[in-house]
Amino acid sequence: MLTRRAAAKAGALAGGLVLSGWAPGRAFAAAAPGPPTRRRSAEPRALPPPFTVPLAVPVDLAPSRSTADTDHYRLSVGRSTTEIVPGVATPVLTYNGTFPGPTLRARTGRRTVVTTTNLLDGPVSMHLHGGQVSADNDGQPMDPVQPWSTRGYTYENTQAAATLWYHDHAHMAEAENVYRGMAGFYLLEDDGERELGLPTGEFDVPLMIRDVHLDDNAELVYIHDDFAGRSTHLVNGGPQPYFEVAARRYRFRVLNGANLCFYTLHLSTGDDLVQIGSDRGLLAAPAPQKSIMLSPGERADVVVDFGRYPVGTRVVLRSASRNATLDLMAFDVTAEACDPSRVPASLATLPPPGAASVTRDMVFEKTGDTWTINGRTYDPMRVDTEITWGSTEIWRVVNKDHVAHNMHLHLVHFRVLDRNGRPPDPGESGLKDTVRVMPGETVRIQATFDTWTGRYPYHCHLLDHSAMGMMATMEITR
Ligand code: C2O
Ligand code: CU
Ligand code: CU
Repeated sequence: MLTRRAAAKAGALAGGLVLSGWAPGRAFAAAAPGPPTRRRSAEPRALPPPFTVPLAVPVDLAPSRSTADTDHYRLSVGRSTTEIVPGVATPVLTYNGTFPGPTLRARTGRRTVVTTTNLLDGPVSMHLHGGQVSADNDGQPMDPVQPWSTRGYTYENTQAAATLWYHDHAHMAEAENVYRGMAGFYLLEDDGERELGLPTGEFDVPLMIRDVHLDDNAELVYIHDDFAGRSTHLVNGGPQPYFEVAARRYRFRVLNGANLCFYTLHLSTGDDLVQIGSDRGLLAAPAPQKSIMLSPGERADVVVDFGRYPVGTRVVLRSASRNATLDLMAFDVTAEACDPSRVPASLATLPPPGAASVTRDMVFEKTGDTWTINGRTYDPMRVDTEITWGSTEIWRVVNKDHVAHNMHLHLVHFRVLDRNGRPPDPGESGLKDTVRVMPGETVRIQATFDTWTGRYPYHCHLLDHSAMGMMATMEITR
């Protein structure tokens, strides 16, 4: 755990000095975990049996200060430990010491200011994924928080309610940093959503699903593109947890927080997952689905009504991944409940998509050893796509690879027009910021660039790929 004294020291240093004490040579090195702080054992550390660890719900971070229109928060990035195998400390990188990081709650129309302190020895960059944020607050790869320094990020929250998340974006280090724990939820609420009567409070639960590669000492192993090695799946940092629920509706804000793994979620009962939201907010109408596929970085808000099951029922959340069925977590129905919540037939009015004036191709491909978009690897100094402010564009995202990718745009939301000429999944009909593109697929997306101007990244959100170059820069100018 980060001690209060260390945090205070970091704050004092950052407040009093301009810090430039990092060597350029290590600027892009991923921060490696420190020496283990626990007794080593020659015995392999066994994972607990499925459904024996309770689900951890990330804590809500309290504002350090609130004014009439702004909530201020403090986050410190540092080394800590977590227990994945019970009783064994696993070194991780964290925001405020927890794995995953604390949840930030924000309201549309109220500003959020996050003061981030970097207690690591390499630069970090905090990105609000899905946030409609100015370029200098976007947490971009070449605009980091230097070691032992502090910076503020301002989020105006001028967008509709949505399940967003924050995570590291340091140049070439984001994959390892996020893998080691630098991620948390940012839940944006608004009045329209509140009036719908959806499940709230303890019945509105964020679920961050991801995988890890654990060694025999329960330490995290990071190897580039280690799809096969990351065979332990975590929900909110715990392996195959159980969650005791009342016999009523719950809203689950599911985030695929993995670097590479795609999850195809479904319930062991075969009942529908009722999707009510995607990356950038509520769908126009609920979309009941037997299964929902989420690629890394995508979110799905789903409502599950446990009221249909007798007390004593266990419902397992599963994923079809890696040619197998994974049990991700269990919901144990333990109590009767009255349920004042509802899922209205109409949820939100989506902005009209507008008429596009520009069409572009974005080709994803692994060329030799390098991950490319339109044949080029990421050069943070190069502008790849010039966009006129106010315009609407269609991007044809083409996957020429034999592996799956996805496309994430910073700043804007987009609509998914079609996938290989066919309509997208019902859950992809809303406002998106990340979309999967399977091998051989062409996915057309449409976005309007009428918010901030400036330079922003777009990239594959399989972070092992983006960190190795599958990223590019768009510049929006008036
Ligand atoms: Cu979720 Cu550029 O990132
Ligand atoms: Cu993003
Ligand atoms: Cu990729």
